[in-house]
Amino acid sequence: MKPYADAAEENKTVVLPLIARFLPGVDEVLELGSGTGQQIVYFAGQYPQVRWQATDLPENLPGIQAWIDAAGLDNLPPAQALDVAQPHWPFAPQSLIYTSNTLHIMSKDHVRMLFCRLAEVLNEGGHFLVYGPFRFADQPFAQSNARFDRFLRERDPRSGIRDFEEICAFAQANGLAHQESIALPHNNHMLVFRREAH
Ligand SMILES: C[S@@+](CC[C@H](N)C(=O)[O-])C[C@H]1O[C@@H](n2cnc3c(N)ncnc32)[C@H](O)[C@@H]1O
Repeated sequence: MKPYADAAEENKTVVLPLIARFLPGVDEVLELGSGTGQQIVYFAGQYPQVRWQATDLPENLPGIQAWIDAAGLDNLPPAQALDVAQPHWPFAPQSLIYTSNTLHIMSKDHVRMLFCRLAEVLNEGGHFLVYGPFRFADQPFAQSNARFDRFLRERDPRSGIRDFEEICAFAQANGLAHQESIALPHNNHMLVFRREAH
């Protein structure tokens, strides 16, 4: 059975043109927290010259793999287990890493560890793209995001919408510079980070 999420379906066409800006010269994209897998399968179908590597916690791999198997695309390798907090990521150096709607699901400590690992895995000049809802100190917190944040924290006190400034501090501490925040529908953003010279 292929798992399905409405949000993933709605977002895939919104985020792909933004990811595509960073694809020239890139032959592989690593996705963190691929979820159902339906987004990465769509991306792979639209950009067959790029290898799209899905990853997630082990419990989500069968669902992602069901999408990959059904797609039958050469540029979709088997989904791999990856907890962003694990001490070593078993991947070659990457030029483009993408994640969607994950930073508010994992704990703040895991977000910090994710950025520590990016310092090891991302090539100099490589990009990290993060899609989702964020809280910006200089902007009002949208009511829909405030409601969502309350829901997340009641469900799991370790989760919650992350502060943009704190994410940037984690990035900066690990040699990644914030380049851009692109406002998207429903109070979501795509944050763009670039790995600076070592
Ligand atoms: C709301 S889902 C988003 C899934 C997908 N990226 C999307 O946009 O549809 C959050 C995902 O984050 C993953 N996740 C949470 N903590 C994680 C961790 N420590 N390492 C890797 N993935 C994690 C979950 O397993 C889940 O697939």
